[in-house]
Amino acid sequence: MGPPQVKGRAMIEALHATAQEMVRRPRGILAADESIGTMSSRLEKAGVPVSGENRRAYREMLLTTPNLSSGISGVILSDETFNQKLSDGRDFPAAVAALNILPGIKVDTGAKELAFAPGEKVTEGLDGLRERLRDYAARGARFAKWRAVITIGDGRPSRRAMRANAHALARYAALCQESIVVPIVEPEVLMDGDHTIDRCAQATRAMLEHLIEELDEAGVDLAGTVLKPNMVVPGSESGQHAGPEEVAERTVATLRAVLPASLAGVAFLSGGQSPEVATANLAAMQKHETPWPLTFSFGRALVGPALTAWHGEPSLITAGQQALADRVEPNSAAVAVG
Ligand code: G3H
Repeated sequence: MGPPQVKGRAMIEALHATAQEMVRRPRGILAADESIGTMSSRLEKAGVPVSGENRRAYREMLLTTPNLSSGISGVILSDETFNQKLSDGRDFPAAVAALNILPGIKVDTGAKELAFAPGEKVTEGLDGLRERLRDYAARGARFAKWRAVITIGDGRPSRRAMRANAHALARYAALCQESIVVPIVEPEVLMDGDHTIDRCAQATRAMLEHLIEELDEAGVDLAGTVLKPNMVVPGSESGQHAGPEEVAERTVATLRAVLPASLAGVAFLSGGQSPEVATANLAAMQKHETPWPLTFSFGRALVGPALTAWHGEPSLITAGQQALADRVEPNSAAVAVG
């Protein structure tokens, strides 16, 4: 199915060019878009006093890491950071763009309990999204992110939860493209639980099938879309271990079974895997041939060590930046061979 007539050629070309730039190896995407609540609890755990200023200072520390653009194509910001300034007075999105990195924005408003689906959630944020996207785009956002969470358990994921989340992701993606903002669609099947790798593969495949169907229904142009999926791994409480070759093989087989070749690219989330494991799995994926580039869009696996090293001390900014560079470099090297 071709792109709908409402999109002009120039719009489509701009979307494609941005999407390709986001996933062009050896670069990947830095997810620094934790919500105020999540970021606050991470600061607290690291012993940093919780405040808007410390959330800002932390993001400034990350973004001003020397040579960040050698391995990072885009940075996902939260709404709070998007509206903040660096200490030199520049707005965050402008400062990101000046680094030759694409500024992105997380636009969902979080996952809420889904009615008649115990233990499952649906991501909200569609109300007023057209206007918000126009505003973000006017202020420099080139791409956006929306994360759906899917749980595995007794009777889960339900068809109800998968359909509700896939529908919301598709409506979000269409609204993004209307504003010439590339959507990152993130249907995360959580690692939490004692399920096998087979269950993860089944749930991931089922969710992706619903998503592709809904994206098509909504008229979303896949060549102007980046998918941010989980890797196919056993549940974190399963007691099972899958090495990089197995994770890569299961993940690529699952993606290949569902995703059209026209998709711009795939940028994996790390999902709570240790930084080293996430990188090893990403590297193993590159040995497989796929129609789309496979890169990273890690949050915790990139920034976790940096937060620990910095822990709010101005004198440790360089240490925090070195810790980030030490994670960007191997991930960039992992995808460089692809
Ligand atoms: O939405 C989740 C983030 O964008 C990726 O975070 O790599 O820590 O799972 P993660």
